[in-house]
Amino acid sequence: MNAKQVAAEKAVSFLDDGMTIGLGTGSTAYWAIEKIAEEMKKRKWRIRAIATSVRSEEHGRSLGIPIYSFADIGTIDVTIDGADEADEKLSLIKGGGGALLREKIVATNSNQLIIVADDSKMVKTLGKFPLPVEVVLFGWERTLEKLRLLGCSPTRRMKESGPYLTDNGNYIVDCAFGEIEDPEATHGRINAITGVVDNGLFINIARRLVVGFENGESRVISR
Ligand code: A5P
Repeated sequence: MNAKQVAAEKAVSFLDDGMTIGLGTGSTAYWAIEKIAEEMKKRKWRIRAIATSVRSEEHGRSLGIPIYSFADIGTIDVTIDGADEADEKLSLIKGGGGALLREKIVATNSNQLIIVADDSKMVKTLGKFPLPVEVVLFGWERTLEKLRLLGCSPTRRMKESGPYLTDNGNYIVDCAFGEIEDPEATHGRINAITGVVDNGLFINIARRLVVGFENGESRVISR
């Protein structure tokens, strides 16, 4: 079985009719969006959703999920999103898909963030996955050098046609740390650099982590 799908479907079992739901971004959150649409039709759920990226917004809309903006919704009950790395304390690295800023805005305005991941995402110490940092275009070369002073190896994210741009029109700098011993301190140091918009460390935000396995089983870690 597809471990990402297993995790996503288990997470959707925590949702209910009438909820306002945050739609995550990435190949695991993809399965949650599929399942939400299926449940909506099967159980006649009346839900409202807000998306963490243009990609997920289009995916949700294409399946008939009603997508709203912050101007039109109150509290977000639950957001289901993926992660690039997660530890047992539910500290995360996110942003591999470039959506970290909208993901963090939606997550921190949700009553509950449920992270869905296959078991390959579980780590003892965060940092093997290069930490994505969203930076503004103006002066990005200097911002990158300041990130380097924090002890990482920073690279501006590229795609075939040129620099990668986020949905917010910013660059992503991927910062290879190797190991992040103190995620909270690292988060603070990065965001204190002028020119940085935010970074992909999510500390004390996720309340539940659903890990999926290829044998179809899942493990739920709650905080
Ligand atoms: C998107 O920007 C990310 O934060 C994703 O949630 C994360 O990269 C996980 O993606 P996958 O589920 O595709 O591995």
